Amino acid sequence: MLNPFNRSPGLRDGIPILPGAFPLIGHIPTVYRKLPETIRRARAEYGDLVWVTTGFGWLLYCTGPGAIDLFRNRSFDSSHLETVYPTVGGGTMLARDGAAHRHMRGALNQPFLPRGLTASGVGATVATVLGEVAARWVGKGSAQVLPEAQEATLDIIFRLLGISASELAAWRKQYRTLLLANLGITVRFPGSPAVRAEKAKAWIDARMTAMVADARRDPAAAGFLGALVAAQDDDGKALSDDAIVANLRLIVLGGHDTISAMMAWMTVTLAHQPALWDALVTEAGDAKQIPTTPEQVKAFPFAEALFRETVRMHPPFSSLTRVAAEDTELQGHKIARGTMVAIDIWGTSHDAATFPDPDTFLPSRWLGRSGAPSAIEIAQFGAGPHFCLGYHLAWLEAVAFAVALAREGKRLGKRPRLRSKEFPASTFLPTEHPPGSTRVDFV
Ligand code: HEM
Repeated sequence: MLNPFNRSPGLRDGIPILPGAFPLIGHIPTVYRKLPETIRRARAEYGDLVWVTTGFGWLLYCTGPGAIDLFRNRSFDSSHLETVYPTVGGGTMLARDGAAHRHMRGALNQPFLPRGLTASGVGATVATVLGEVAARWVGKGSAQVLPEAQEATLDIIFRLLGISASELAAWRKQYRTLLLANLGITVRFPGSPAVRAEKAKAWIDARMTAMVADARRDPAAAGFLGALVAAQDDDGKALSDDAIVANLRLIVLGGHDTISAMMAWMTVTLAHQPALWDALVTEAGDAKQIPTTPEQVKAFPFAEALFRETVRMHPPFSSLTRVAAEDTELQGHKIARGTMVAIDIWGTSHDAATFPDPDTFLPSRWLGRSGAPSAIEIAQFGAGPHFCLGYHLAWLEAVAFAVALAREGKRLGKRPRLRSKEFPASTFLPTEHPPGSTRVDFV
């Protein structure tokens, strides 16, 4: 997927330019379909820094073991997300740094920590929705895994926010439209992705504003949403309504597209490797219930290892961007203020120095450990101040899903089997996912 007429690497500020760019669209086709091979080759041939172009601008791709240090490097920030992805990132903690980020993050952290998840009873909603999904998939004998997982994870987050069952379809529709903003196509005309995404954002924001007002009147009755509106930062300051609405919008987005891709890959992998399914059923097939608290999740180490290995093999975000907030230096090169860098999550997750035999799916690498995984091992969730807010919720959902599937499989005497002969190829934009048409049968 490289342009064969553009073979010369060239240099920009002394740093190699990845050859193979197409006119206007640059390396986008390469990144969309052939990201892993391209990164590996680029790293082997040019080192840990290489320029790629999206056709609109330059991106300095940073790979190798030092790449994730950029998450903590104060010369780089996330302010560009406010302008590059205003529909998604605008007004959110993701696009803030320093004190403004600490204020939002400090307030919203508590409900997402293991203790907060237990206190709000989030796990019961997770178990109900995922139990229904497993019963439907295994009972019906077939699932179109990605869209059905997207629907389920959206339902979880909407139900947590107190949205009633009758409104779920309308919310789902608006969120799928909002995701069009992630395509980064900014051209505006009636019906264009940008215009439709903005309309969806207005729809979502108006309803969320009303929900926040309701929850403010009676936080105790508003469950998880009540915990969010009542939250205060470390200095005891509450968030404004606008800040809550913007971050709720982000939480819904962050809380479903990533985790649904992970659930789809996990199911596909279980279908592709019968020994993994057998091991999961041995651990969880007779479980009395789907785990609903972080404490209960710990009883399923193999399901947890499946989650970690699935996210490692298929990190939803293959890279994350930051911008140089000042003139600075990287690996001996001068970097001008405003330079956009991409931190290589895929390569970090497939580095043989951290993960021996990195292209093999090996849950065993996560088993029998006494300590927590290192920062580099869980780089799929970012690092530093913006480390994923929903990490523990994702962990709870993933293990609950695996357990629900194993219980249902055991009960009905069925196992997953891939409909296609080949393991599905990844698509990398906007997040890494299997093709939407991928089917798993339960036979
Ligand atoms: C497999 C599941 C998930 C993965 C791989 C994932 C990955 C990530 C990554 C890489 C970041 C860092 C972004 C950056 O530094 O630019 C992030 C941040 C974030 N994630 Fe997740 N995420 C997952 C699930 C969730 C869930 C379930 C939620 C919420 C319910 C969530 C909410 C957020 C939020 C709000 C942020 C922004 C944090 C901040 O800026 O301080 N994520 N996530």
